[in-house]
Amino acid sequence: MKFFIDTANLDQIKEAQELGVLDGVTTNPSLMAKEGITGKDNIYKHYKKICDIVDGDVSAEVISTDFEGMVKEGEELAELHEQIIVKVPMIKEGIKAIKYFSDNGIKTNCTLVFSAGQALLAAKAGATYVSPFIGRLDDISTDGLNLIAEIRLIYDNYGFETEILAASVRHTMHVLECAKIGADVMTGPLSSIEGLLKHPLTDIGLEKFLADYKKGNQ
Ligand code: E4P
Repeated sequence: MKFFIDTANLDQIKEAQELGVLDGVTTNPSLMAKEGITGKDNIYKHYKKICDIVDGDVSAEVISTDFEGMVKEGEELAELHEQIIVKVPMIKEGIKAIKYFSDNGIKTNCTLVFSAGQALLAAKAGATYVSPFIGRLDDISTDGLNLIAEIRLIYDNYGFETEILAASVRHTMHVLECAKIGADVMTGPLSSIEGLLKHPLTDIGLEKFLADYKKGNQ
């Protein structure tokens, strides 16, 4: 399972990278705005900075909603750095753009996916990644994890190569459950990854080991 971090904050990206288990980064226009990154030039520079920190894929989202605009923007984004994955919304024009990018060797992440039907369409169009937003479904009393399971079943039935990128992950149990279901990737906050570290018996055990060592080595 690949671990992506869902942020545009460079310090958090560095911290996750230093942990040694980071496979990529996802961003979106809201995350860029949260970091105060505005204006096309600054936004593009920021994507390059992120690519310089991480070794893996970096999703950069198009703002256009028409086919021509998405293609122009996506080609510009893909030119920025070889690690850039063009993030395209799950709308009719987006599907056309994903098909175009797929035919032209540009990798994509189909975002804002909330149903298995949408995920099927993204795979048919040749998306590299599909991003079902599990946290936002949970927020409206709908089982986000069940959507991951449905998409896994459909993709396995037909051998689709599109990777399931569980997005809108909010906490560590989301990560674990996605791993059990077989999501290829998860993207969430650093806390959702660091939560995997924690167990009180580890802390108690280490304290005892160190105390016993100290007793015998004074
Ligand atoms: C996915 O790529 C999105 O950036 C993200 O996971 C959305 O998460 P949120 O629902 O926590 O905003």
